[in-house]
Amino acid sequence: MEEKYFGHSVIRKEGREKVTGRARYVDDLSFPDMLHGVTVRSSVARGRIRGIHFGDGIPWNEFTIVTAADIPGKNEIALIEHDQPCLASEIINHPEEAIVLLAHPDRYLLEEARRAVQIEVEPLPAIFSIEDSLAKTAVIFGEDNVFKSYRVDKGDVDAAWAQADIIVEGEYRTGAQEQLYIENQGMIATANPADGVTVWGSLQCPYYVHKALVPLFGLPAEKIRVIQSETGGGFGGKEEYPSMIAGHAALLASKSGRPVKIIYDRAEDMVATTKRHPSRTRYRTGVTRDGKLVAMDIDFVIDGGAYATLSSVVLSRGTIHAAGPYYCPNVRVISKAVATNAPPHGAFRGFGAPQSIFALERHLDQVARSVNLTPEEFRRRNFIQKGQTTATGQLIHEDVDFNGLLDRAFRECDYHAKRERFARENPGAAIKRGIGFASFMHGAGFTGSGEVYLASVVELEATPEGTVRVLAASTEIGQGTNTVFSQIAADALGIGYDRIEIAQPDTGAVPNSGPTVASRTSMVVGNLVEAAALALKRTLLDSGLLCDACTEDEFVRACKRYIETRGPLRSRSQYEPPPGLYWNDTTYSGDAYGTYAWAVYVAEVAVDTLTFEARVTDFVAVQEIGKVIHPVLAAGQIEGGVAQAIGMALYENVVWREGRMANGQMTNYIMPTAADIPPIRVFFEEQPYPFGPHGAKGIGELPMDGPAPAILNAIENATGICVREIPATPEVLMEAMTEKAGALV
Ligand code: MOS
Repeated sequence: MEEKYFGHSVIRKEGREKVTGRARYVDDLSFPDMLHGVTVRSSVARGRIRGIHFGDGIPWNEFTIVTAADIPGKNEIALIEHDQPCLASEIINHPEEAIVLLAHPDRYLLEEARRAVQIEVEPLPAIFSIEDSLAKTAVIFGEDNVFKSYRVDKGDVDAAWAQADIIVEGEYRTGAQEQLYIENQGMIATANPADGVTVWGSLQCPYYVHKALVPLFGLPAEKIRVIQSETGGGFGGKEEYPSMIAGHAALLASKSGRPVKIIYDRAEDMVATTKRHPSRTRYRTGVTRDGKLVAMDIDFVIDGGAYATLSSVVLSRGTIHAAGPYYCPNVRVISKAVATNAPPHGAFRGFGAPQSIFALERHLDQVARSVNLTPEEFRRRNFIQKGQTTATGQLIHEDVDFNGLLDRAFRECDYHAKRERFARENPGAAIKRGIGFASFMHGAGFTGSGEVYLASVVELEATPEGTVRVLAASTEIGQGTNTVFSQIAADALGIGYDRIEIAQPDTGAVPNSGPTVASRTSMVVGNLVEAAALALKRTLLDSGLLCDACTEDEFVRACKRYIETRGPLRSRSQYEPPPGLYWNDTTYSGDAYGTYAWAVYVAEVAVDTLTFEARVTDFVAVQEIGKVIHPVLAAGQIEGGVAQAIGMALYENVVWREGRMANGQMTNYIMPTAADIPPIRVFFEEQPYPFGPHGAKGIGELPMDGPAPAILNAIENATGICVREIPATPEVLMEAMTEKAGALV
């Protein structure tokens, strides 16, 4: 088929609406008689609720007040497990846990009222670290605080140590990270007995919210309707949390009989909603003297916070990516997601992979040194190739050319010349320069059999005017869903890009094309858009109203004739797995993902030995992503992901006090601004993936994985200091560099 739009940087589908301010975000929406809602939250990490007191001076009779007792159905946020209540009723498990909801027309009085509610709590022992959770200093979940554990076993690690000449061990840590989408979380709900519950809001996954509201209200599925309003960023932060806020708004709407809007301010959004899981990874790696990997023993633990939420799947992705794009005959990964009394940690771009890949790519620089190889030579001896298997035993069928990616990345940044120059110039310099890299992969789509279970559906519908609407639950969250779907549909139908419309994601009107997560939208759902478009065209061709080489005018006339004479013109496609994929959930082995994007990222840094600040001064990102659908959007995904990962590596530090984020403001939670971001030079290699639209693979999360280890490897190159934790703030670097100076004396 002709690629008139695919591969070209067409204008963003909803771009005009956004730049002219016509796009309506949830806080731009208003309904007659609408109330505002707020949430009264726990101030302690763990305890038993003894009483709720409504203080003096507030006209409480004017307020709608909701507690757990008002929930018509089950008090739970249905997701994977059912352990998280919508409102705490007896036991509090984390700071900022929702206990009481209030609604009133006056937002200012509402805020006063929130402060006048006192929750009387008997404190219970709490847990604030992975170590304490593993040691069971208190038991807060099940019998051992473990939400989920996995074991990946390839070969025989215990027997393989005998073949290793050298064994290298290391422990690595990553901190929590806030998603910091520009638009805070928000939701509006209406509820009445006749129509049921309807919510509008800022969200990634309409059908997740739908799934959560059904048991909460005990209503049949068709009585719940979830509509995505324009959404200002998600990054995973609007994957599972919107179910909570939708439940809250809907409970207030149901009790008051009026529409209720809840919009979090930035502080509430930062302290109460999900963040990236903190992690601890231990590697024990055996290599031969000539630098071949023999065995990897990996112990990967993530801090899930107080409820199970998505931790099991975050852990799964982190576990599978922990051995990286290398061939090693013997690999064992034992991983756990453990409970602590912090707000549940959740989905964040990369979904566990940035954590374990940070550890691996830092660790491999240590392993390379142990066998006197450069980091690149060591990796070249171990890169996975076609015909070899990953840690889960997945046989690689495609030509993976890591040497080519590495060569290109090094060429683009003049790696070797810089490495030499920095070594020459650094001694005696106050500002030390370094260059480092990471090689990595990211699996696109749901893990294992996930896509089969999702069984996503896309529909298309033509109008008598000859426009074609794409009906999908996939959401535009700034990344370009609407544009990419329109490109794909227009090319498949052979009509103009402007003839494609994207239906607003509304569970009452669109089929379930699955959640907008896991780098799956372009690759998996985009493929369904193409299949549905081809089916629609086939219907017209078969009807005899359209001939193969038709003009656009003929297409429009054919749609009109078809609808007039035969009724609605619609088509549908449903996910089918690529042939030959096999996954075993019990042994955790097989084809973990349909495919992977492969990448080599190089970071250059400058470390000030007086202030201990590290800056990234140049960045090169080379990746093989199948086919580029939209060059500007694709480069934007990579640049944005790299910027976000620079924040994770150097700046973004969540300060915890008894399970509560102590720096929940943008003045003291430091994220990089444009001034802190270097030029990010993005290069794509293309090798079409047969089961993505026109060969495209997913790329949304990939750029989050590589930058942090590349940056820390560069810091080691600059200073000789091996820092094993992020964020590597000036305090962390000062401690590490002062220690080394002490050791040298
Ligand atoms: Mo995501 S982190 O798969 O929304």
